[in-house]
Amino acid sequence: MPLPDGFIEEIKFKNDIIDVISSYVNLKRHGRNFVGLCPFHNEKTPSFNVYLQSNSFYCFGCGVGGDLITFIEKIENLSYIEAIRFLAQRTGIKMPENDGKTQELLSIKTRIFEINREAARFFYERLYSEEGKKALEYLKNRGLSSKIIRKFGIGYSPNSRYEIINYLKKKGFKYEEMINANLVYGKNGSKVAARFFDRIMFPIIDLRGNVIAFGGRVMSDQQKPKYLNTSDTLAFKKSLNLFSLNFAKSDNDGSLILVEGYMDVIALHQAGIKNVVATLGTALTIEQARIISRYAKEVVICYDSDEAGEKAAARAIDLLRPTGLLIKVISIPNGKDPDEFVRHYGKDAAVRFFQLIKNSENDVEYRLQKVANNYNLNESNGKVAYLKESVRILALLDNLIEQEIYAGKLSEKLNVPKDAIILQIEKEKKKKKRIIEKKQFLQVQENLSARNDKINVEKFDNLRAATAEEAIIAYIFNNPEMAGEIFCRLSSESFCTSFNKKIYSTLEERFKALRPIGITDLTQDFSSEEISAVAAMVAKESERMSDKDSVLEYIDVVLFEKEKLNKNKIISDYGDENEIMGYMKLLREHKK
Ligand code: GTP
Ligand code: MN
Repeated sequence: MPLPDGFIEEIKFKNDIIDVISSYVNLKRHGRNFVGLCPFHNEKTPSFNVYLQSNSFYCFGCGVGGDLITFIEKIENLSYIEAIRFLAQRTGIKMPENDGKTQELLSIKTRIFEINREAARFFYERLYSEEGKKALEYLKNRGLSSKIIRKFGIGYSPNSRYEIINYLKKKGFKYEEMINANLVYGKNGSKVAARFFDRIMFPIIDLRGNVIAFGGRVMSDQQKPKYLNTSDTLAFKKSLNLFSLNFAKSDNDGSLILVEGYMDVIALHQAGIKNVVATLGTALTIEQARIISRYAKEVVICYDSDEAGEKAAARAIDLLRPTGLLIKVISIPNGKDPDEFVRHYGKDAAVRFFQLIKNSENDVEYRLQKVANNYNLNESNGKVAYLKESVRILALLDNLIEQEIYAGKLSEKLNVPKDAIILQIEKEKKKKKRIIEKKQFLQVQENLSARNDKINVEKFDNLRAATAEEAIIAYIFNNPEMAGEIFCRLSSESFCTSFNKKIYSTLEERFKALRPIGITDLTQDFSSEEISAVAAMVAKESERMSDKDSVLEYIDVVLFEKEKLNKNKIISDYGDENEIMGYMKLLREHKK
């Protein structure tokens, strides 16, 4: 046990689950519980539920659930122990000294930060050594100053599979630690080799200043892949970080510029525009959208103006809109990316770039313009088709004032009555709502269906028993004062499915040891998918609200099903041919 129970209890007591989750999700009361739009997937109607009775949450849309600590782990991308520390700090509770497994995980992470820092130093030094000459030349050719190279800690990984390994070994790091940081391939010393060689190295730095990963770029077009990035490690998830947010978070006036590449960020930075971030070689994620909304009110999307860039921008808009951010989109003239733009305008780059932003369209205008480009608006056919598509875009707007404004503009542009356009928008909205609801309904059904249960694989074959087992487990979470009586009436040995049995017996043990029972108490022994499965049981039970009599019935069902299962097992153990004989024999033995 890494942390005393009393401590966790205090954390849970002082951090109101509604209070904490409300700072990430707009929750509305719904009966005894609360609902909101799930922060873990993109949805338009709320399926994210928070249950007060069990202090748990569950999303029927994506199947993620758990308790407050799980929530913080997921939303802040923290380990269990870090999530507890986060909640402790939030309420001014002092963390006790800890030991054991969590300490070990924490120290693996700390070592990754240390080894990465040392590696960054190594790469930076090599850039200024003899072997780094061509790399430095490459960077200078691309217009980077020594000052900006230093600021971003850009370096060079030499063309050797072993140099960095020897360097890190001298600094006291083990092979295992190099592998943990994904700086080195291989298993515990056998055939180890550097992951990055002969590349320009861009360190990726988190908000606390830790070097969490690297992006490595080749210097010639012949080499592939162009960029090689650190894979996800214990200390790094690319979907949850943004390049240069460490600089941009404190140097923006409520506005962040989102670009595609490392080089775009760095070039703009050098030109004096510092409120820029980029994703790490993947499309924008819902988590990154949320992070941006935490540090800014407005986001300016500035992707490459090629087809891929436009597609990526459209996708980014979809993810950014629900966060409530104001969205602007700029396309750089002549198909250039921001880096080329800065090089082209030299000293005037910043002024020119601000001009672009000032003249930029917001996301709706941007989309309408993109659609307009596809049609000839002087022809009726083109006009009608344009109108249809525009209506679809405007139907995405929740804000009625915005909707009015654009309908007005369209009405002027096409000479069609505004009311007719609004009517169409409303129709389209209703249609969309039906489609979305149906899709979400199907998703919920799929998440709830036993056939699909990946956690409790025996559920489908023991549906009746498993359903009763789950109701009993959930009932205990909702009514811990009843736990004693239930444990007396039903032993975990009578459970039919082993996943449910494992949970039940964990609870039973905790109860017998006089320790508190809550979802949090499972976090050490169960995976996060398993915790979500338990949260799902609680969510279903919270809709049902069983009373004591029902629980007694569930217990009977489990006992009955177990007996049936045992009989079947005996019969099959004695083979098909002599089923009855075998069973009789057993009964006789039983009587003796
Ligand atoms: P330059 O080509 O040097 O101007 O770099 P850039 O940062 O502008 O790259 P580009 O616009 O081609 O790509 C945008 C981002 O996508 C890069 O910064 C990388 O994060 C990522 N990326 C590009 N190519 C690759 C690749 O081959 N593999 C991976 N994993 N990521 C890539
Ligand atoms: Mn580029």
